Amino acid sequence: MKDAQPRTIYLKDYRAPDYWIDRTDLKVDLHEGQSRVEATLSLRVNEAHWTPGQPLPPLELQGSELVLEGAWVDGVALGADEYQLTEQGLVIQAPSARFELRTRCRIEPQNNTSLEGLYKSNGMFCTQCEAEGFRKITYYLDRPDVMSVFSCRISADQIRYPVLLSNGNEIDRGVLEEGRHWVQWHDPFPKPAYLFALVAGDLQHVSDQFVTRSGRTVTLQLYTEPRNIGKCDHAIDSLKRAMRWDEEVYGREYDLDIFMIVAVDHFNMGAMENKGLNIFNSSCVLASADTATDASFQRIEAIVAHEYFHNWSGNRVTCRDWFQLSLKEGFTVFRDAEFSADMNSRAVKRIEDVSLLRTAQFAEDAGPMAHPVRPDSYMEISNFYTLTVYEKGAEVVRMIHRLLGAEAFRRGSDLYFERHDGQAVTVEDFVRAMEEASGIDLTQFRRWYEQAGTPRVTVSDSYDSASGRYSLHFSQSCPATPGQVSKLPFHIPIAVGLLDAEGHDLLPDSTRLVELTEAQQTVHFEAISERPVPSLLRGFSAPVKLSYDYSDAQLAFLMANDSDAFNRWDASQQLCVRVLQRMVPQYLEGTPLKVDGVLTEAFSALLRAPVSDPAALETMLVLPAEAYLAEISEPVEVEAIHAAREALANHLAERFAPEFEHLYRDSQLEGAYQPTAEHMALRSLKNAALGYLARGSDAGVELAHQQYRAANNMTDRFRALATLVHCERGSARALAKSCLQDFYDNFKNDPQVIELWLSVQASCQRDGALERVQALMAHEAFDAGNPNKLRSLIGVFCSQNSIGFHSGEGAGYRFLADQVIELDQRNPQIASRLVTPLTRLRKYPAARQQQMREQLQRIFTHSLSPDLYEVVSKSLQ
Ligand code: ARG
Ligand code: ZN
Repeated sequence: MKDAQPRTIYLKDYRAPDYWIDRTDLKVDLHEGQSRVEATLSLRVNEAHWTPGQPLPPLELQGSELVLEGAWVDGVALGADEYQLTEQGLVIQAPSARFELRTRCRIEPQNNTSLEGLYKSNGMFCTQCEAEGFRKITYYLDRPDVMSVFSCRISADQIRYPVLLSNGNEIDRGVLEEGRHWVQWHDPFPKPAYLFALVAGDLQHVSDQFVTRSGRTVTLQLYTEPRNIGKCDHAIDSLKRAMRWDEEVYGREYDLDIFMIVAVDHFNMGAMENKGLNIFNSSCVLASADTATDASFQRIEAIVAHEYFHNWSGNRVTCRDWFQLSLKEGFTVFRDAEFSADMNSRAVKRIEDVSLLRTAQFAEDAGPMAHPVRPDSYMEISNFYTLTVYEKGAEVVRMIHRLLGAEAFRRGSDLYFERHDGQAVTVEDFVRAMEEASGIDLTQFRRWYEQAGTPRVTVSDSYDSASGRYSLHFSQSCPATPGQVSKLPFHIPIAVGLLDAEGHDLLPDSTRLVELTEAQQTVHFEAISERPVPSLLRGFSAPVKLSYDYSDAQLAFLMANDSDAFNRWDASQQLCVRVLQRMVPQYLEGTPLKVDGVLTEAFSALLRAPVSDPAALETMLVLPAEAYLAEISEPVEVEAIHAAREALANHLAERFAPEFEHLYRDSQLEGAYQPTAEHMALRSLKNAALGYLARGSDAGVELAHQQYRAANNMTDRFRALATLVHCERGSARALAKSCLQDFYDNFKNDPQVIELWLSVQASCQRDGALERVQALMAHEAFDAGNPNKLRSLIGVFCSQNSIGFHSGEGAGYRFLADQVIELDQRNPQIASRLVTPLTRLRKYPAARQQQMREQLQRIFTHSLSPDLYEVVSKSLQ
């Protein structure tokens, strides 16, 4: 905690380090009280910053919460006047251009509640060093452009910590006195400190093998606490699929002889790509049919792949500085999304990703923390692990892929990996490799990395039947964001299809890629025989808000006929959005809510057609989320949005009860649970139907109850439970209560299942939500020291339970502020993420805005971490 205002760091101030660290030899001696870290660094002055004969620059190492016990230069102890301890770390005067520095520090991992650096989780020691956690382990040049060959000798009690892991290969081990032992690790690949990892615990592991395409055998190991050893298979299978895919699609092979994953219950994020030793949040790696839903099976597959892909896009080629974070994250998210699309339904994966982008990333772009994919300043880098850097960053890479085509893109990635292997580089290096390999000029395209905000594209059209010329008139603009008042036009790839009256594609290759580069631009299509219906932004070819003045009937037509599966879904969403937006004023005026007939007819066509793609049908049955409706509204009328969405869902449930009944019966699966794409699709369709059936009648409620009882897998069980808990019908109340109790009794020892149990209650919008959440905080199942529990209960309540969070004259805002103030003392990273819903204040009507502002101001009166300070101060500006 610092009382002074944190410093702002600027990209324009980047300067290479004064020293390099060629080797880093660590000795970590783990104890229950004081642990010791001895670091021996081989230092070499950066010749670019020094000429022989001149005085050497001082060596300034970062360090935080360390107790220095001694320091030696070339073996000679430093006297008290030969070093300085500052706010930032340790400063010494270098004796020569090359020298060795040894330091010894004391740390207390058991008291480290920030979950950054070295800490304890359920009795095991583990680390999280990205972005700047290594400085909590030892004094170091804790920046990604300093790459070093690491070795690490860990010693600890043999009974409590039989397993001692670090990066690279185990090269030696031995026993010590007093029941202790040690293991020596060596990682031959130079890496920045943020990729360092260490684990010590009483762990078991499952083991497997992968033979690379060049014939090397790699040992794969997944370590967990003994009770979880039965939940490892899915992650190992996913890992092998990811390893094969990266060879086939990117020509990238794994490089060490061993690849290890460790599951940890206390983790701030999803997972971490430490070289050869990935560390995962348990909920992103452990799964079994009885305890994990289909959604988590898919999430695990995606995250295991993501972290594995980082071995090339992140580790072999890393970032020069943290402004370049999207270099590794945007690219790697693009890679994992394509992997998931290849393993499962491509259209559904795209729909899920775009939904997330449109709800949450667009909201970030419109809020006080808006920043470019490559930010140009920050106070606390942990605040920039954002949807913009990750998801929008991936969209930017996807646009490059589309502009270049798959083959040129692959040549570009080959060039990038080859040219920069072993280097710490910039976004510019990536774009340049893509340009050189393709011959395509991306000068204007670079604005996607530099300008924040979501571009708007407005489209109108004209048709001249005499000449057969059809024209699309585009105009683009981008709203102001903090620090960026006016923006230059973006280079926007827009995939366009044209449909004839029968719904067939009129264009020769069905889709044409329009490249929008001007503020206003017209594009002509010749030899078009009739006035077409345009299908715009197919596959969501750019992360923009596009509007074209469709009639309801045209949207229904696209929903039924578009050859692009994503745009069929999008048309259905836009039609629902329109109908819902017409109901909002009805609610505010107190008149009865009316559902437009055109939507009913479109759904009727959808539900009567034979089911060719269950997964795609399911996505169309899910109405736009309240969070998405909020994002596109100004101001947000929370109750009206909720009431409109409920009314529409109830209307569909009543009107199509027989159809949902059929869907439910026809989607039943026989036999044992399988997490295959086909089975998941049927389960998701069945459970969507169940949701409508339970809305529609007491018989539907009873069906949910039966499904809960009979389920042979967590997906069906949990979806039935959620249906009962969220159902407004009186007959559901007692059943929801008894099933929640039953669920808890059966799964109380399984943290991942308890996260589901907390989240389903936190998202229940019935009256009294805040009181229920507060009661759950006192429940034995809750643990305020575990980020997963905080996210499942407090995070879900404040971000997904709009009625509960915004009701009670600001009671929800007060509640969140109280939690955040308290949490900031222990875990600043989580505090600054949890506060997000309050930062959206400007979206709400004046009274609510004022109540939210008061709570932000109250938070601001406390002594805050840099993390929370940055978010709250920017929200109050
Ligand atoms: N590099 C990790 C990933 O993308 C995320 C780790 C970020 N950690 C943090 N504390 N900010 O998978
Ligand atoms: Zn990542």
